Amino acid sequence: MKKNEDYHFIGLSADIKKAGVFVKDHLVVYYAEGRFYCFSKQCPHLPEVGDLSIGAFCPINKTVKCPAHAVTYCLNTGIPVREAHRRLGSLDLYEPIELEGNLFIKI
Ligand code: FES
Repeated sequence: MKKNEDYHFIGLSADIKKAGVFVKDHLVVYYAEGRFYCFSKQCPHLPEVGDLSIGAFCPINKTVKCPAHAVTYCLNTGIPVREAHRRLGSLDLYEPIELEGNLFIKI
């Protein structure tokens, strides 16, 4: 970690790895195949409706599908996978950082 950057504590890495999915505040963290994925819990389409913590996470395609209207977001870019959905907005992604048994995100 660099001194001039702000970090937000998410939780203990081992707990998140064991659970596979973890929700804290407005964030969702998934752990799969040796990697953490962190993104906003609220779907960009209709934030008050779409809860991505109960969406369909796919570690193979690195996507999450919103349970409300099935928009699927790429977890590398935050952009909807389907061209027709791109006008709905992009998902906020956060960089997870594991340090000494703790997981942080850069904010
Ligand atoms: S609220 Fe998520 S796709 Fe519509």
